[in-house]
Parts: sequence; C-alpha cells; structure tokens
Amino acid sequence: MNLVTFLTSLLAVPCLAVPQTSTAASRASTTTSFAAQFTVPASADEGATLLPNIYDPTAADAQAECPGYNATGVKTSSTGLTAHLTLAGSACNVYGTDIHDLDLTVEYQTDKRLHVNIRPSHVSSQNQSWYLLSTDYVPAPSQEDGKMTTSDLTFSWANTASTGFGFNVTRNSTGDVLFSTTGTKLVFENQFIELVTHQEENYNLYGLGEVIHGLRLGNNLTRTIYAADVGDPIDMNIYGSHPFYLQTKYFEMGNDNRTTLVTQPVDSNNDTANYTSSNHGVYFRNAHGMEVLLRSDNVTWRTLGGSIDLYFFSGPTQPDVTHQYLDVIGQPVLQNYWGFGFHQCRWGYENWTVTEGVVDNYAKFGIPLETIWNDIDYMFQYRDFDNDPVRFNYTDGKAFLQRLHDRGQHYVPIIDSAIYAPNPDNQSDAYPTFNDGNDTNSFILNPDGSLYIGSVWPGYTVFPDWLTSSAQAWWKNQLVTWHQKIPIDGAWIDMSEVSSFCVGSCGTGNLSLNPVHPPFKLPGEPGNIIYDYPEGFNLTNATQAASAASASQSQADATVTASSTTVSGSSSSTSYLRTTPTAGSRNVNHPPYVINNVQGDLAVHAVSPNATHHNGVEEYDVHNLFGHQILRATYAGLLAARPGKRPFIIGRSTFAGSGAVAGHWGGDNMSKFYYMYFSIPQALSFSLFGIPMFGVDTCGFNGNSDEELCNRWMQLSAFFPFYRNHNTLSANPQEAYVWASVADATRAAMAVRFQLLPYLYTLFYNAHARGDTVMRAMAWEFPDDPSLADADRQFFLGPSILVTPVLTQGATTVDGVFPGLVEGTDVYYDWYNKTPVSKPTAGKNTTIDAPLGHIPVYIRGGAVLATQQMAMTTRDARNTSWSIVVAPGVDGTAAGQLYLDDGESQDPNSTKTVDLTARMGSLNVTVTGDYSGLDLPLANITILGVQSAPPSNVVKINGETVGNSTYDSDTKTLFIGGLERSLGGKVWAGNWTLS
Ligand SMILES: *[C@@H]1O[C@H](CO)[C@@H](O)[C@H](O)[C@H]1NC(C)=O
Ligand SMILES: *[C@@H]1O[C@H](CO)[C@@H](O)[C@H](O)[C@H]1NC(C)=O
Repeated sequence: MNLVTFLTSLLAVPCLAVPQTSTAASRASTTTSFAAQFTVPASADEGATLLPNIYDPTAADAQAECPGYNATGVKTSSTGLTAHLTLAGSACNVYGTDIHDLDLTVEYQTDKRLHVNIRPSHVSSQNQSWYLLSTDYVPAPSQEDGKMTTSDLTFSWANTASTGFGFNVTRNSTGDVLFSTTGTKLVFENQFIELVTHQEENYNLYGLGEVIHGLRLGNNLTRTIYAADVGDPIDMNIYGSHPFYLQTKYFEMGNDNRTTLVTQPVDSNNDTANYTSSNHGVYFRNAHGMEVLLRSDNVTWRTLGGSIDLYFFSGPTQPDVTHQYLDVIGQPVLQNYWGFGFHQCRWGYENWTVTEGVVDNYAKFGIPLETIWNDIDYMFQYRDFDNDPVRFNYTDGKAFLQRLHDRGQHYVPIIDSAIYAPNPDNQSDAYPTFNDGNDTNSFILNPDGSLYIGSVWPGYTVFPDWLTSSAQAWWKNQLVTWHQKIPIDGAWIDMSEVSSFCVGSCGTGNLSLNPVHPPFKLPGEPGNIIYDYPEGFNLTNATQAASAASASQSQADATVTASSTTVSGSSSSTSYLRTTPTAGSRNVNHPPYVINNVQGDLAVHAVSPNATHHNGVEEYDVHNLFGHQILRATYAGLLAARPGKRPFIIGRSTFAGSGAVAGHWGGDNMSKFYYMYFSIPQALSFSLFGIPMFGVDTCGFNGNSDEELCNRWMQLSAFFPFYRNHNTLSANPQEAYVWASVADATRAAMAVRFQLLPYLYTLFYNAHARGDTVMRAMAWEFPDDPSLADADRQFFLGPSILVTPVLTQGATTVDGVFPGLVEGTDVYYDWYNKTPVSKPTAGKNTTIDAPLGHIPVYIRGGAVLATQQMAMTTRDARNTSWSIVVAPGVDGTAAGQLYLDDGESQDPNSTKTVDLTARMGSLNVTVTGDYSGLDLPLANITILGVQSAPPSNVVKINGETVGNSTYDSDTKTLFIGGLERSLGGKVWAGNWTLS
C-alpha cells in the first residue's frame, strides 16, 4: 500500500474522525466562517517513528565504512583546476548508493572568492538518482571575466593512502587554513553526502540558519536545515534555509609581533592583551535537507542529496565576507520608506469594523500607526485572493483602504501558500483561483500524475508548482485581479515551508468533504490549552495570575480526564523505521539517513517528499526552495499589480537570496522574555543572510503578553528594521494602547525611531547598493575584541547607534558594554540627554539605569546624523523640518551620509546623496543628485561633546551670520537654533558650510 492510499484508508476509519461540536463552531465563527464540519483526524499528520541518526547508537559511521575517493587526471589552469574522483575501494552504500565517478571543478572566481564543485560525472536524465540544483532557482555565479587577478585563497589537495582525496582552502596573505577535509573521507551517495572539516578548539561560527539560538553557534550543536512550519523551538530547524556560515578567528598579538590563534573564551573585564581578527565565509549551495554537525574539533556537513557546491569568501573582515556572499546570492531589495513605519497585526481582527477600530484607537491614543494587517480572518473560508463577503467585503474594504491611504497609512494582508481545492459535489463551492491554476497545470502532483492534495487552513488544498512558468504567471494574475478588488500595499506570505497539516496526499478521494477543519484545535476553541503568561506575571499581576492559574488547572483536569482512555502501558520499547539503500533508486519519503527534523518524518506537517513537479523534479530535491520561490513570484505579481512601485513583502520561509525580494519576520514566537532576547541573535543572523528587513512578533505571538513584557518589547523592536506587533487568536489584546505605560513607552521609543528614519533608510540603501548590514553585532563593529565574540544582548543599528535593552523580567538596570570606551578609541553619547558616557570605573561592564519605559540608546562618536521628527505616519514625518546631530569621535571629527528619494518608486527618476562631515568648528554638507522632495527647512544643529563654550557664538552658514547658539556646560552640548530661514528653507538644495 502506498502512502497515499494508506492515509486515505485512515481517513475512512470513522472513529478517528472527530466532528467539530456546534459549540466549537460558534466559538470559531467570530474569526472564521466555518460551519460544523468534518475534522481531519490528528493521526493524519503522524508519520513514521524515526530515530534521528545523530541519536542512533547503532548508526553506521560513514567515515569508518566508506572508502573515500582518489583524484586522477588533474588539470590545472590559471584560473583553477579540474580532476576526476574515483571511489577508492568497494562501495559502502551506507545511506544511499555510492557514486563511483565524480568531477571536481575548482574555480578562482574573483580575488576573494573560490568555488569548489564536486558532482557525479554521469548525470543521466533517464536514471535521475540525484539532483543538481538548477541555476534557474538558485544562482551559481562562475568566473567573472577580468575580475580575477591573484587570488587571496589557495586550493590544495592530496590523495592519502588511508583516506584518499582531501583538500584545503588556505588564505595566502596569512597562511591560515580556512577549510580542510584532509585526513577525512569524502562520502558521495545518491541520498547522502558527507564532508568532514577540521576546526580548532572553541571556534566561532555564525549563521547556518534558520535557528533560535544565540548568535555564536558554539561547538555542541547539530544544525538541521529543513524548512519546517513550527513555532520557534530552540535549536531546531524552523522556517528558513541558509547553508552559510561566517567564521571569525581571533589572534593574540605577542611581543615578538607573532600572532597566536585564540582558542579560549576571553573575559572582557581583566584582559589587556592586543588582538586582531580575520573572517571568512562558506556557502554550501545545496537545497536538500541537511545537517551541519558542530563538534569540538570538526564541522561535518551531511546532505540528503545534490552536489558539493561550495563558495569560499576570504573576507578578511565581516563586512567583506557579507559583501562577497551577497555578490553570489543577491543584494537586499530596496525597501519602501513606509515599510519602516509601525505595523499592527493580529489573528482575530474579525471584520473591517474591528480592524478599523484598531486604526482609530492608535490615532486616539496618539501612537503612530503606519500599516494595519489582517491575518487569515479576512479570507472567505481561508481561501487566498477571496475576501469574506460579509465580514471583509470588497466595497467596505475599498472604502476603508481609501481612508487609510488618504491618511498616509497602508494595508497588508496575509497570503497563504496552499490553494483550496473545492468540493466537486457542491457547485456553490467553486473557486476560480483553483480552476485557473488547475487549467494551467500550476499545481504539484502525485507521482502518478494526479493532483497532490494536502490539508491546510481551508481544508484540502493543492500547492503551486513554482518550477513551472505557468504557476508563476497564474499567481501573478491572481494578485493583479485581486488587487483590483482590494488595493493592498504589500503581501505577507505564510505557510511557505511548505506546510500541510497531514502526511501525504490526504485529500485524494476526499474532496467531497471540503471544507474541512484542520486536525487540531484553533486557539480559543474549547478544549484547547489556556494561554500562559510571561515570566514573572504572578509578581506584577498577582490577582489576575491567581485566577489564570485556577482556570488553567481546571482546563488541565478536563484534559486529563478526556485523554485518560488513550493512555495505556508505555513500557514497550519504541520500534523505529529504518530503511536501507536500494541500488539505483531512492527512498525519498524515508531516506536511509534520518536528519534530526523537528517534525520527525519529512512528510509530517509538510508536502511529502515524493510529491512531484511537472518537470519531474521531486519535492525532496527542492523542498527548501518553496518559500523562496513564492516570494519571487509574489514580487513579480505585486510589481504587475502596482507598476513602478517597490513590492513590500514579508515572508516566512526563506532561502539564500530571498532578501533580494523580501523581508522576514521571526515566525511564531512566544510572549516570553527569553523570546524577546532571541529576537536579537535571530535578527543578526538574518543580517548575515542578506535579509536585513527583519523583525519579530513584538510582545510575543503565542500566549498572553503582559504590561511589562510588552513595554520592553515595543521599545526594543523600535530599533529593528521591521517593527510589527502581532498576536495569536484569542490571546489577550496587546496593541500598544492596551496599557497606558506601554503607550507611553511606545511613543518614547517611536520618537527616537522616527528621528532615525532618514538614517535607517540610508542604511537600507547601502544594504541594497553595497550589501552592507543594518543591524550589526558588537563583534562586527569591534573586530579586535574577542570578548564580544558571543555578544548578542546589545547591538548596533548601522555603525552609529548602540542599543542596550533590558531583556529580563523585573529589572530596572541593565549591564552593558561600551566597546572602545575603556581603551579610549571610542566615545558614546546618551541619546536622550546627549551627554558623553563616562568611563566605567572597573572593568568594561557598566550598569545602566533602565526603569520600565526607558530603553538605553547611544550614539557612537564619529557620527553626523540628519534627523526628522515623529509624526503619525512616515509620510507626515517626511514633511517635518530637519535637525542635525554632530557626535564627534575621539579625534574630534564626525561624518554621516543621507540617501534620499521618493521612498517608493522601483526606479526613482531622481535621487540625492548628502555627505556631512564635521571637524573642529565646522560642518560641511555636500549634495549630489537632484531629488528635491525632502528639501525642507533646517531647524537646528546640536553638537555633542563640546568641552567648553566656544570663543565666539557667531554662527555662519556659507559666510552669512545665522541663528543663535547656546552652550550647556552640564551636558557639553552646543545647540544652534533658529535656522529655519537659512539656506532658503531648503536644507539639501546645495552644498553648504557652517562655521
Ligand atoms: C591541509 O592543512 C593541514 C593543516 O595545516 C596540513 O597538515 C595538510 O597537509 C594540508 N593538506 C593539503 C592537501 O594541503
Ligand atoms: C589512492 O591514492 C593513494 C595515494 O596515492 C594510494 O595509496 C591508494 O592506493 C590509491 N587508492 C586507489 C584505490 O587507487
């Protein structure tokens, strides 16, 4: 029995079907239009019981059992080498069928980039037992003509008697071996590739996402990379796939000018040695399920197929590595200015009236709101491109969006990845979006050519086949047509791992049951868990906590009673499904090597690996790309729907290169302080992945938030590029206005964010144009301080803003460091009172006052910031007058840059760049470009860190006396006001000098 019929028969067992009670239906009907209906049994989403290889004591060790390869026929050229690799002994076939002959190609592509490719020599289309990732889906740049002079990297190789072919990648300038497989065996089978690389003790790796983990990955972690729809478990595979790492090596400089690699953690507080660092990057271009095993002295890559396709980036700085990586995968998309406004969302805004009520409340409480979002509530029975005719009808929606747009606000709805397959027995269930896609062969198939039918929110669904151009065209048409009915401003792409709530094609033969309820209870449905609260809730809300505890106890009692019948003797040992390789064929649903997938079986809660694309490619080979491809298709669709306007897209599942079309949110986190902390390393990792437009569900998605957590979190996220509050269905409301103290804290943090918007936008322009990062780790800004190697509780926004948030419950202070302050290389200024930060008295750690409602923010000396003011929207903020803040570095100079354009055109026809430089007593402004939309008055200039009152208080711009200045000896600031009428009221109209 194949999987499909097996599951179909499961569904036919009536006792497993749990029809929804009418109570459940009426509870749910506030947010859905479900009537009482068939519920897919939970067992439909259960896969085989598998033991991940890393936990299997009986698992074969490929290094012990396999023969390795020997290289022959090596041909060297000025730009690389080619060789043939032959299995150096009899096949081991541990987790697949060994491939006897391989081709090795090494290309020195630029002076900083080396490409190593190892693939089967005989790729036949008849017996496609392996899959090579098409450059149609993921680019694979080759030699750039004329770019390669002499490489900073060297590839060396050797055949050894015991392990055969191994290679090293060495950085020439330092002689440092960056990557070495020497002394380990290469294993290359149709369903298993293993590459073991040496590492020195205590190595520093970053990246390898997507994962909820500290920024520094450490040396005791298995990074499974397999896109999964799962609510942010720690250390497991979640939505995105980023097989890339940055490695930082620190060196201690000895007296004799020799350097030694640092292999122990360095304590910041009592260490006076001098250090340097160097960085390199490794990108494994492979979309298969994979694992990267980080162990004490090695990093081992294991994939379930594909080829070895490695790009090495020589750095040597982190920004160099990021630039070099993004040159290969694509630089971040240019964001809309409005995308940096504040976004409010929740699951449970049940109709237009409720949704508009939230918008009105933000206005009433004087809290800026840029964009209101709808979750799946707006859909007609959870169908994409189909609004509920009663609760979210088009007429009212258009009028509402018109009101939003008139006020400079925006609207972004969710769009799901699966497409409802209508009930063929019910004429009124017809769904043109399905028919159009089906007619154009746009959906993924079963191996037998019939439609693959899984189950997602609407019931049984099909899934777009992004490998076909017809699916892309169909999706674009859907977006364009729907946009004519409801002029959305952007798209939020969800469920794109791609998620399916059952194993296999469970809807085959069952479409007449549609629509059906998912195989689990929705939040708030009777019998579902009652929500938890943040840490310390009982301390800050004693009464409410007590009643919540008793409610949850009675809920737990009820659950125990209900489930007691299913509890039986559990002493029997579990038996696991283990498969063995079959020569010449693959077992894609249950590969012999079991990765440590968070869902276990690869087919659980996802489209099954044997689902088949129209071009014959199995889902197994491209699973990790679905989320990337839907983002690309959506980008094309929005561009067609809104010609000339930059598409605004936030997606859940991403792959290397997704930043070129979209941003990302951190997925289904929880309303816990520790998830607030994890948002920082997650964001910093996405900086490395080229997806700087990142933010998490502020105040937490799952569970109830509370006043203290939401207060801290609304302030922290104000310094993340993507700033959105989002909440799950039926949890307590958590909009910024729900608690007075949170409203105050939000306005305070937003006031800073709005002033920094021109700076943030410029950072994003540089991300787009050059591949710069926006949110930055302490270690990247201070590369010679090894004590910062794992610092991820503070961060920089661009080069000049340091954020030191409170991340724990009940705290009123926060410990942080000001890198370079003790050493005397850097100065910092408190954002709020503009006063220079004094040096800590002992060590580097400083305890900073941070009462609830205050987030410590500092300007790093050396910056000139051009700021505007807070307004209710970014459109209005763009119309406010400018201020300039000069924050000199230790040498008394400062510089800044400003990129200006209309903030929304795909190809702006005019732009402007402003360079601002300051030194003792003068500020120079140089303007290039002709965009004039932001040529507004200059209100004032504040110069920080001025040690004594200037000898003269005459201020001149271009030689003409203007304004008035006041010196404050307490804060050491010089304030120059009254400049509104200078420069003809147009600050960026031309060059000027102030003295
Ligand atoms: C790789 O580097 C290691 C460590 O320096 C060295 O022992 C080995 O000989 C090198 N192998 C090759 C093939 O260059
Ligand atoms: C592989 O190369 C090594 C080193 O040259 C040699 O000792 C060994 O015999 C070779 N193995 C095979 C199967 O040719």
